[in-house]
Amino acid sequence: MTQTSGVDMDKIVSLSKRRGFIFQSSEIYGGLGSCCDYGPLGVELKRNVKEAWWKAMVTDRDDVVGIDAGILMHPQTWVASGHVEEFADPLVDCKSCKQRFRADELTENRCPSCGGELTDPRMFNLMFKTFMGPVEDEAAVVYLRPETAQGIFVNFQNVMNTTRKKLPLGIAQIGKSFRNEITTGNFIFRSREFEQMEMEYFVKPGTDRDAFQYWLEERFDWYVRLGIRKDNLRLRQHGQDELSHYALDCYDVEYLFPMGWSELEGIANRGDFDLVQHAKFSGRDLSYFDEETQEHVTPYVIEPSAGVDRSVLAFLLDAYDEEQLEKEKRVVLHFHPAIAPIKVAILPLSRNEQLVPLARQVYADIRGAFMTQYDDSQSIGRRYRRQDETGTPLCVTIDFQSLEDNQVTIRERDSLKQIRAPINTLGATLRAKLDGEPMDVLPEGGTYWLGFEG
Ligand code: GAP
Repeated sequence: MTQTSGVDMDKIVSLSKRRGFIFQSSEIYGGLGSCCDYGPLGVELKRNVKEAWWKAMVTDRDDVVGIDAGILMHPQTWVASGHVEEFADPLVDCKSCKQRFRADELTENRCPSCGGELTDPRMFNLMFKTFMGPVEDEAAVVYLRPETAQGIFVNFQNVMNTTRKKLPLGIAQIGKSFRNEITTGNFIFRSREFEQMEMEYFVKPGTDRDAFQYWLEERFDWYVRLGIRKDNLRLRQHGQDELSHYALDCYDVEYLFPMGWSELEGIANRGDFDLVQHAKFSGRDLSYFDEETQEHVTPYVIEPSAGVDRSVLAFLLDAYDEEQLEKEKRVVLHFHPAIAPIKVAILPLSRNEQLVPLARQVYADIRGAFMTQYDDSQSIGRRYRRQDETGTPLCVTIDFQSLEDNQVTIRERDSLKQIRAPINTLGATLRAKLDGEPMDVLPEGGTYWLGFEG
């Protein structure tokens, strides 16, 4: 039996739509199959995932640099990389209902939808084609990149020459990729337009196994550090029959999605495949001069390749919880603060004209430092529930006492603990709490507070 996470995907789909995380693409026209649009909260969540990846992979390291290559590349790129020849899935058609399936995903040789007879499998290339320039002929065909990785390989020498770095050196990139997938679905798990976060780590041949091991551990830990439960993650090695044409070895970081364990990220040892191929097809020398051995070598490459959208889905699923409080049930997203779309909500206790100027002032002071939302509609209890449902870690409430003592209340999403804190040090207090300081640690002049909950 397939193991599943127990979280209902439909609840995540409905929450995403209701609260503005993710919408169906071109919904007013009936939607476009397997494409999606990110709403105001979704775009923040996605940016945070990408920023957390960039920080861990580029900003915090001195052996990795970034690039941003174009989506359209010289068509020879895809001949050299093997995508024109190899990047295909076996497609079968149902002779009765005309639906299409990936033959390797079927357990029987009948249509899973109507039981009809299937055609023989034929290979279907997953790359989207388009035409460059005004003439639509074969000579003008270009592809929408199916992975960001090749933009890195073709720039290897440019980066080496301009940074004057030595191996090991990683080149990282985040960007859109496109695949004309035969079967899509499971919300944003598999779509035809998606984003990848890829890093190609170039090493001297012979050091690749150690680097591979290092990146397996590092990438697994990245998800854990950002709050994904370890029990919902695992590393799975590819069998020989599963390996891509370029890979010497490959592991998937898998997440326990509602449909079962599935790939979140692939980590491959690509050997020297790509640089050898691009050197052959371009006629350029893509070797590296090793000053220690005084020899030219073709670097080996370790590639951690993660999906932005799949990570967003995993963060949403893992954060989702339904909790029974004393008086009511709450839906809450326990996002890590670095991932949470909104960090702080500013909530005046009411729209009373005396309270609003102070609340607006606090909002203006805070919003430059944190992604902040101002909300003054409906009861305070309902506003807390709304912020819980979108995963805001901290709510700041301004009440009538604030007008007298210049203090506000800070409420923490997970523990529901509340403290009173002076407005003049609010920014520093919020920063400390978002960085993990327990609510029991009070700022100078602060006090515990029973709160407005419920
Ligand atoms: N450069 C290697 C490469 O592209 P991949 O395993 O095909 O490897 C890497 O893709 C990651 O990209 C996957 O682990 C997944 O997170 C994401 N990905 C791939 N195809 C996707 C799709 N159709 N929709 C959403 N994400 C996808």
